[in-house]
Amino acid sequence: MTFLCSINLLNFRMKFIYILSINFLFMLNLSGQNQIKTELLLEQSALVVLESKCNICHKKRNPNLVFTKDNMEKYFRSINIQVFVWERMPQGNEIVLTESDKKDLKAWILFLKSKN
Ligand code: HEC
Repeated sequence: MTFLCSINLLNFRMKFIYILSINFLFMLNLSGQNQIKTELLLEQSALVVLESKCNICHKKRNPNLVFTKDNMEKYFRSINIQVFVWERMPQGNEIVLTESDKKDLKAWILFLKSKN
């Protein structure tokens, strides 16, 4: 009898652990997907700014540094330094970043910083 009981108890424990770990994996998976979604949205908004406010000039005056979807992540630290720390970019007075442009760039940069 005690033997059967302990087997039952063991069974119950195993089930419990099994259900817990399935739940945990499910949550991990969900948060992973959300993170990918967040990253894509942030990247997209940042790329709009890079293309409209940076590439517009870089294409002519700094053709070695034209931002694309594929290379932007590589440059996020220098973009942060040039735009927010030294405020050298965008160069000149003609092209100005709106508050919303800055917010989009900053949010993307902060996300990458938290990831790296
Ligand atoms: C009106 C022209 C112009 C605009 C607009 C502009 N840039 Fe530049 N950028 C340049 C030129 C020219 C250089 C290369 C010479 C230099 O660094 O001053 C440069 C260089 C850079 C560099 C490399 C600096 C280094 O030496 O490490 C970065 C990063 C950069 N720009 C980012 C940006 C970003 C981000 C934007 C948009 C928010 C932007 N730039 C907008 C003209 C521009």
